[in-house]
Amino acid sequence: MIVSGSSSQSLAASVAAATDADLAPVSFERFPDGEHMAQVPYFDADEAVIIAATDSSDTHVELLQLQDAVREAGASHVTTVIPYMGYARQDEAFEPGQPVSARAMAKALSPGTDRVLTVNPHEPTVVDYFDVPAEAVDAAAQLADPLPEDLTEPVFLSPDEGAVNIADTVQGAYGRGRTDYFEKTRLSGSEVEIRPRDADVDGRDVVLTDDIVATGSTMAESVAALDDMGAARVYVTCVHPMLTGDATTKLARAGIEAIYGTDTLERAASTVSAAPVIATKL
Ligand code: R5P
Repeated sequence: MIVSGSSSQSLAASVAAATDADLAPVSFERFPDGEHMAQVPYFDADEAVIIAATDSSDTHVELLQLQDAVREAGASHVTTVIPYMGYARQDEAFEPGQPVSARAMAKALSPGTDRVLTVNPHEPTVVDYFDVPAEAVDAAAQLADPLPEDLTEPVFLSPDEGAVNIADTVQGAYGRGRTDYFEKTRLSGSEVEIRPRDADVDGRDVVLTDDIVATGSTMAESVAALDDMGAARVYVTCVHPMLTGDATTKLARAGIEAIYGTDTLERAASTVSAAPVIATKL
């Protein structure tokens, strides 16, 4: 039986349909003091698959409660699918005194589950922080689906070398074009500096690819560099369309053709579903 977190209701319904599984009723309430109560009122199955993006501190708490609720209701096997794993980008202590937040989250979620699946974490090695079998699922190939068929000599380009594997995957799924990457230095939480290297994009259509678009700064700076370099149409694709604050406006003002992401986070740009690839792992 599939159990959805509050941030993953469409994806959970799609996975239920793809696997021909029942979708459990759930409710999400709050007490007057702000505490959460995520409930699964009529859970009646041996096996639970909880699908819950942890895109906020609140949804982390909800997921812990859902894990406990299905065990309480008698589930003997629990799979936890974390479509978007919050705090995964803090996968090491970058400065003295910082926590390894990804590890802290993984340790907290491990006792309530027998198995974990997560989609395109920022670093695949983050799955090693769980105390139960955990696997990273790759939904990047799906990002080629909405692209127009008539792209001109397309370049699939990641804003930094760390995400070039996503560019490679989308290029492979699209079936033609080539892959390249820029270099990026993060100046602050919302500011980045992009160095274009010598990528040849003049007159070509460019598909920017990344694991996540959060503030949109990385993509907006990349689009500005591409404009200077004479690129033709620019599309933005990502697995996790976080799109916080004014990110959507920032990218529209930058002059992109479109932005696509998957439904690991449910946004207007989530036009691609990660459900088929998750379903193959269940
Ligand atoms: C970090 O390296 C990630 O791959 C993304 O590039 C980054 O998280 C995007 O953040 P923002 O949209 O805030 O620039």
